[in-house]
Amino acid sequence: MKALVIATLGLLPLAGSALAEEGPFASQVEARQGIMRYYAVNIGTLGAMAKGEAPYDAAAAKVAADALAGGASLDTSMLWPKGSDKDAHPGTAALPALWADGADVGGKAKQLRDAAAAMQAAAPAGLDQLRGAMKGVGDACAACHKDFRAES
Ligand code: HEC
Repeated sequence: MKALVIATLGLLPLAGSALAEEGPFASQVEARQGIMRYYAVNIGTLGAMAKGEAPYDAAAAKVAADALAGGASLDTSMLWPKGSDKDAHPGTAALPALWADGADVGGKAKQLRDAAAAMQAAAPAGLDQLRGAMKGVGDACAACHKDFRAES
C-alpha cells in the first residue's frame, strides 16, 4: 500500500493534477467546472440568507454577489473548445447543443451577467432587496443548464 502511494505521488507532476480527468481537454473541463462550483458556493451563501437559514450579513452578501458578477464577467471561451462535449469527452456534462450553429450561449451568459449585476446592487442594500434579486440569478443558471447541461 505504502509503495503504491509513493508510486502514485511520483506520477503527480506528470499528471498535472491528482484529480485530472482523462481526455485531451481535461484542464479546460476542470477549469470550467471549477468556475461553476464557484458560482454555486456564492449563490449558496446568498440563498441561505434569502431563506433565513443564515443571518443577513450585508458585507458577506456583497462579497458573494461581487464574486458572482466577477465570475460572470470573465471571458471563459477558451474553456469550451469544440470536441469537449459529453459525447466526445469523459467527465463533462456539456451537451453537444452548446456548439451547434445558432446556439445562444452568449445570450445565456449575458442573462447571468445582468442578473448578477442586479444582485450586486441588491445584496448589500438589505434582505428584502437580496430576496428580490435571487430569482433572476437562479433563473439565469437554470436557463443555461436546461439547454446545455446533461441531467445527471
Ligand atoms: C452559459 C451557460 C451556463 C450558465 C449561465 C451557468 N451554467 Fe452551470 N453549467 C453549464 C454547463 C454547460 C455545465 C457542464 C460543464 C461540464 O461538465 O463541463 C455546468 C455545470 C455546472 C455545475 C456542475 C459543476 C461540476 O463540478 O461538474 C454547477 C454546480 C453549476 N453549473 C452551477 C451553476 C450556477 C450556480 C450558475 C448560476 C449562478 C450556473 N451554473 C450558470 C452552463 C452554465
